[in-house]
Amino acid sequence: MEYILTIQRKKRESDQSYKQSFAYTSESEADTVATALMALNGRKELKDTEGKLSAPIEWECSCLQKKCGACAMVINGRPQLACEALLSKCKKNTVMVEPLRKFPVISDLVVDRSILYENLKTLGLWLREEADLNDHSQEMAYESSECIQCGCCLEICPNFYVGGKFFGMSTVPVTMRLLTEMNEAQYREIAKLYVRHTFAGCGKSLACRDVCPRKIDTEKMLVNANALAVWKRGKKK
Ligand code: FES
Repeated sequence: MEYILTIQRKKRESDQSYKQSFAYTSESEADTVATALMALNGRKELKDTEGKLSAPIEWECSCLQKKCGACAMVINGRPQLACEALLSKCKKNTVMVEPLRKFPVISDLVVDRSILYENLKTLGLWLREEADLNDHSQEMAYESSECIQCGCCLEICPNFYVGGKFFGMSTVPVTMRLLTEMNEAQYREIAKLYVRHTFAGCGKSLACRDVCPRKIDTEKMLVNANALAVWKRGKKK
């Protein structure tokens, strides 16, 4: 099956973006957008559909197993992991591939997601002494560890923008975990920051629930974090 991948490209941050299409023949139902990007870049000469010689497509990946989040991008209008996006599941044989739009584009499909980590730092989300572990906190820790900080939830969120006061869903898993594990002083500090940077700005559209590649139940996670930080309920349950 032949697919046409139309890639949104940009050489440098300051350049205008443009679209460029490449043909890729898939021989397996298991081929993903990541498979196609690797194959295109592996060609001796990369030519677009008009026969123009092109530079390799810049994109990021690491695990290729849906575990690191590096390959998050917008595929046919939906934020998802390139290593998970099966070409055979695309409705047409034309596939639009764009970088995540909420983050500054560095080049082609590579974006600067450092805000994800800056926001975790601003919220002070690290343990400062031994964790208070019990059955409840261990369950929270397990659920929290599913988040791979890919940024898909922020891409779809109508309230998040880089540099804004609202930090979005990506900080909630770690907040929820730490609120169940930390001592009282750190608990109060993080709860206060959570209310300012998450609870107050969340419009509860829950669009994040529909795009999380790890299938995290973001609604349940928000309810848990709100119970802990806002209503001060359920810390030890
Ligand atoms: S390369 Fe790690 S999630 Fe896709």
